[in-house]
Amino acid sequence: MEIKLKYDTPKEWANQVLENIPEFLQDHADAERKVSTMCMSIIAKYPDRTKIIAELTQTAVEELLHFKQVYELMQSRGLSLDGVFKQDTYLKGILPHVRTSRDGRFLDRLIIASIAEMRGVERFKLISEAAEETDIKKFYTNLYKQEKEHVDLFLKMGTEYFPEEEVEKRLNELLDVEAEVIEKMPWRPGIH
Ligand SMILES: [Fe+2]
Ligand SMILES: [Fe+2]
Repeated sequence: MEIKLKYDTPKEWANQVLENIPEFLQDHADAERKVSTMCMSIIAKYPDRTKIIAELTQTAVEELLHFKQVYELMQSRGLSLDGVFKQDTYLKGILPHVRTSRDGRFLDRLIIASIAEMRGVERFKLISEAAEETDIKKFYTNLYKQEKEHVDLFLKMGTEYFPEEEVEKRLNELLDVEAEVIEKMPWRPGIH
């Protein structure tokens, strides 16, 4: 299954983001924490989907480790978590398109997770290329390679329970939604 984003982030985005590294790191730490929680909440809501519990748990651990790493990077720069919960405009734009049936919701959440990972890969890569400071460059180069594996992982979880054609069709629809949402979003020091 090929997954390709339908909107390409311009390179200039990374330069703008890097003008405010403290805020970007803060936002990124939040994002890692949230995706870890999301994995665990899928398990809580779908305990009957036993084929993916181990993978979801493992992914939650990996995302939590990313949180730890971003936090360490913040600490090394004398930054601390600000405790401010910002609106997640990106997810808020996509989630209304999630189907309401139990199965539809399940598959859509997995597909959206995969798309969000893909967007992360694209943007972390841009950051790694644009960054001049060694710690940032190194960290984001490593990270985008790791997040790449999550893209396929979430889709594979979907195909454990749904035919591949169905997953692919829904993926295509949600990729359209995501592109429309992200293209309209103003640039800010954050991953989305
Ligand atoms: Fe992550
Ligand atoms: Fe990830």
